[in-house]
Amino acid sequence: MSIELIVKNCSELHTMRGPRRARVGEEMKNTGLIEDGALAVDEDKILDVGNTKEIEKKYDAEKIVDASGKTVIPGFVDPHTHLVYAGSREDELIMKIRGKTYMEILEAGGGISRTVKATRSASKEELKEAMRKRMDKMLEYGTTTAEAKSGYGLDLENEIKSLEVIKDMSDEHPIDVVPTYLGAHSLPPEFDNTKEYIDYCVREVLPKVKEKGLAEFCDVFCEKGVFDAEESQKLLKKAKVLGLKVKVHADEIENIGCSKMASEVGAISAEHLVKTSDSDIERMAEAGTIGILLPGTPFMLMEDEYSPARKMIEKGMPVALATDLNPNCWTESMQMIITLACLQMKMTPSEALTASTVNAARALDRKDIGVLQEGKRADFLILDVPNHMHIPYRFGVNLVEEVYKSGKKIDRDN
Ligand code: NIG
Ligand code: FE
Repeated sequence: MSIELIVKNCSELHTMRGPRRARVGEEMKNTGLIEDGALAVDEDKILDVGNTKEIEKKYDAEKIVDASGKTVIPGFVDPHTHLVYAGSREDELIMKIRGKTYMEILEAGGGISRTVKATRSASKEELKEAMRKRMDKMLEYGTTTAEAKSGYGLDLENEIKSLEVIKDMSDEHPIDVVPTYLGAHSLPPEFDNTKEYIDYCVREVLPKVKEKGLAEFCDVFCEKGVFDAEESQKLLKKAKVLGLKVKVHADEIENIGCSKMASEVGAISAEHLVKTSDSDIERMAEAGTIGILLPGTPFMLMEDEYSPARKMIEKGMPVALATDLNPNCWTESMQMIITLACLQMKMTPSEALTASTVNAARALDRKDIGVLQEGKRADFLILDVPNHMHIPYRFGVNLVEEVYKSGKKIDRDN
């Protein structure tokens, strides 16, 4: 049979084959590894995977890529990013070096509020250009699908503007973007009361977002001094009634019951989860809530405490990884996140790979990506390393040699 493309002789081919749901416990170690593996690709889909000899026997291809000495994995899925923003906050790094906390910087008018000002004053075109640059880098570093949140506009006009930027960029860029409405990211200056602001989001913004079809998920920054669990729940319940899926920023700085609320409200994922307790973990494991862990954030805040990933995996809670790309934690690299996950949270390289591909896809409710198997989308990476343990090991550099999105090689020069 003649097909478009075969990638053969892969030193390691990680197919991530396994159950259709997010992987838990010991399953996270199983990456569906085929040694001397080969991938058969036709149009935008994977046609077959197997040993090189088997695949060569079955198919003739127009194009053959020799991946000898290389590792092939699904494209990374980054399920938590704040991709739409203007400006930068590099000077806050100096404040952090001098010992200021995230909340102190926020209370002094920095942090989210500062980015809200910059984002409100930016035009759609300016926001698109800023987002495009980040997406180009993400793709170069192997991310083929990403979630993107609004949340630096806050009012109706600027949240819609941000979500329209996300929509345009998803259409214009090879990366597929899953849009999330995060109006409840911070209290905007024109409100002095979080309850009133949540009412405004529920009454005016959320229905418009839904009507325009601009978001698939609704998220909220549930945190002490931001939005409490009750307010967050009110917004998320309304989102569910409107047919949106829900996810929550929970237990990042303090535990005020947000991951508990997330599993009760039926959130697909709870994210950050640094201060999460054993009983919270058990509840999420029971409910199947996926924990999206963001080790880049404590790293950039220079904190010693990271999410209890080992406990989560041991208790059977599904775990995914993401960059949290935002002006406080500006990295496009899932490879760097894998290094932090392994070194700071003691995940093994194979668990981190599962968390960055198939489990991240499930956290975005996607079943056609994150796995290299017949019928799945042909989003994959050729890494210039002989095995996957090199991903966390050789940190801070790009190990991706080739990116394929929907079966087509991404040309780096464009
Ligand atoms: O996920 N924690 C809340 N929101 C972002 C940070 C946003 C910012 O600092 O601009 C986060 O880390
Ligand atoms: Fe975030």
